[in-house]
Amino acid sequence: MADEGAQAEGITMSGGGLYSLATLGAKDVIDGAMPLLEAAVDAIPTESFASGFTLADMGCADGGTSLDAIGRVIGRVRSRVPGVPVTVASTDQPRNDFNALMANVHGLGPFVGFLDGAVDVFPIASGTSFYRQALPSGSVHLGFSATAMHWLSGKPGDISDHVHMVGASGAELEAFRARAHDDWRQILLCRAAELVSGGRLVLVNFCIDGDGRHLGNTGGIDMFETFARIWSEFLAEGRIDRDEYVAMTLPQYYNTVEEFTAPLVDPDDPVCQAGLRLEHVETRVVRCPFAADFEQHGDVERFVQGYIPTIRTWNESIWAAALHRERPVDERARIIEDYYARYADRVRAEPEGHGMDYVHAYLVIAKA
Ligand SMILES: C[S@@+](CC[C@H](N)C(=O)[O-])C[C@H]1O[C@@H](n2cnc3c(N)ncnc32)[C@H](O)[C@@H]1O
Repeated sequence: MADEGAQAEGITMSGGGLYSLATLGAKDVIDGAMPLLEAAVDAIPTESFASGFTLADMGCADGGTSLDAIGRVIGRVRSRVPGVPVTVASTDQPRNDFNALMANVHGLGPFVGFLDGAVDVFPIASGTSFYRQALPSGSVHLGFSATAMHWLSGKPGDISDHVHMVGASGAELEAFRARAHDDWRQILLCRAAELVSGGRLVLVNFCIDGDGRHLGNTGGIDMFETFARIWSEFLAEGRIDRDEYVAMTLPQYYNTVEEFTAPLVDPDDPVCQAGLRLEHVETRVVRCPFAADFEQHGDVERFVQGYIPTIRTWNESIWAAALHRERPVDERARIIEDYYARYADRVRAEPEGHGMDYVHAYLVIAKA
């Protein structure tokens, strides 16, 4: 099995700006955080940013989904301290497509960037994991992250009969839970160091909500069950071997609200002692835009052509990494193509119920 740290770093969203073009729902999730972001800006003491404001967008991918939100945050900051210089630090893993990010930020891609007509706005990028401190201590006023912190720092083990922790049980699930517990604290401790006193975090993270719902599982056909079943069909058909089947374990964990909030409400927890306090938490379901559109237009092929690319953007790199390196590259590519083609055929055969509704916890955290 590949080294677990390297495996986690190998996670990449689709490059070349494709991520944001295909992942319309992620933008809806971010846009829905605007009232929380604006309230967070309003709560930060103005004296802390009289001469400069720093916003961090952690796990930004190609940045297209957060352009509008960042533009609006800059506007809100300037409404409090007119003309104040704003640094926008976009951070992600070293292998992220930072060329696509900068093209989007500068409006050179398919979107209007937040620099259009902006004065004294300074975009910078850091290929530093959120499991490390990415910016100097006491330098960040507002830390933001959307749909990123479910990626663990590494894979704590393989799940023998599923592809994701939502289908795991027993000791295998416990290993994921323990890793996620440590990882969440590590993320928060790094942010506690980066924030100015009175700074805020708005973190929008995948979760398992109070009704047991999670990404792709809100009452219709469970997306992760579909992933797992097709992968087991490939095993049964001899397309992949047992090692490849087992290696396809997503290094992700979806926390519950209780798991997210535990370190923020226990005064003895190192996170509380580092000054972080929970201000707000809520869960939300954001509808899969492709499934919602399908209900209106009823065109199955149009649904398939929107929905399948959106799931490919975030998990194709993991499926590809599970295949033996000894397989010729074109053979690996064929398996991956056939995998998504089979998923597409399932949607064509029974479109109702498929979709990737998003289930998030929206957290606002203050640095005392
Ligand atoms: C689904 S994308 C979300 C992109 C964007 N924030 C959004 O909401 O549309 C998840 C991002 O998290 C990044 N990511 C995963 N693990 C990370 C880590 N340890 N540090 C920083 N970024 C990470 C991935 O590289 C990817 O760009």
